[in-house]
Amino acid sequence: MPGFELIGDAEREHVNDVLDNGIFFRYEFEKERKGIYKVRDFEAEFAKFIGTRYAQAVTSGSSALKVALVSLGVRPGDEVITQAFTFIATFEAIIECGAVPVPTEIDETLNMDPADLLKKITPKTKVVIPVHMLGGPARILQIREIANRNGLKVLEDTAQALGAAVESKLTGSMGNCGTFSFDFYKTITTGEGGMITTDDPELYKTASEYADHGHDHNPNVGRALEGRRFLGFNYRMNEFQGAIGLAQLGRIGRILEVQKTNHSIIAEALSAVDGITMRSLPENGRDSYTHVCFFLPDGKATTEFHKKVTEKGISAISFKNNLWHFLGNWEHLINKKTAWSGGFPFSEPWRLSI
Ligand SMILES: Cc1ncc(COP(=O)(O)O)c(C=O)c1O
Repeated sequence: MPGFELIGDAEREHVNDVLDNGIFFRYEFEKERKGIYKVRDFEAEFAKFIGTRYAQAVTSGSSALKVALVSLGVRPGDEVITQAFTFIATFEAIIECGAVPVPTEIDETLNMDPADLLKKITPKTKVVIPVHMLGGPARILQIREIANRNGLKVLEDTAQALGAAVESKLTGSMGNCGTFSFDFYKTITTGEGGMITTDDPELYKTASEYADHGHDHNPNVGRALEGRRFLGFNYRMNEFQGAIGLAQLGRIGRILEVQKTNHSIIAEALSAVDGITMRSLPENGRDSYTHVCFFLPDGKATTEFHKKVTEKGISAISFKNNLWHFLGNWEHLINKKTAWSGGFPFSEPWRLSI
């Protein structure tokens, strides 16, 4: 049950607060805003829920990835390892930073295979991005241990798994930072929006500045006089998104509970079908139950099953053929097509390879 199905009075009340005081910008206007800071409150509540010291709101899950990578110190020519099964935004964010995406295989968790991660590490590797796909956690403890041993940072792409956990720590709280998406399809939505979670004060400071043209948010001076350590860009969330986010986060308990109930009903029915194996979770892992994921014995059986259920009007995805979530199907990336004239950044001397 994604959050958009529950839009109601709580969302309306929070949005009306913003309309009533007329301040849509998340910073400044101290007198006019009458103490209403929706984005700031959403960040505080979100950090509390995930169990991190800090949360920085941004415009999308894609910008969260980019801001997080920049804040982790990724520079042009660095290698960033992620999995071949993800949404393309994970690869795009790495390329946006001028870094080289290095794909790994996935295992039966449908997430990064730690054994393949080990094979992909080189002296140029800077960051590892496990992606908690389709509501299920990656083998994050193993991945973190490998990263620590090799001096690498871990960014958990948690766009698809708000509320999943390993050993009772929520996904997005176990790496150096986590990133979340609140686009319209996600467990909670702000229409478009994203968040970066971290315990690291320096990473948080860099992210909050980079996401706002470098502004240092010094509380003792007006915005016009704030310091700027470096250039940034505008990835700011606005007060309407913050308002909806607060209301949606208030519903997270119910959303996760309903998803779990629906998941168990469908999984129970599927257990009667020959040849089906359910997707694995890491030891002590907890699904957020957004999807029921399973394997059939081979491609032929998968195609037949998919055809039969879709003919019955049941929504099902065969991920090998899915154009959004598998590196093998991203022809624009494989053919290095970018909107920049001259093919930047693939044309640069430190050339990106995939
Ligand atoms: C794994 C993953 N990462 C990042 C994103 C990007 O999030 P957004 O759509 O908010 O930019 C998505 C969106 O679907 C996603 O699934």
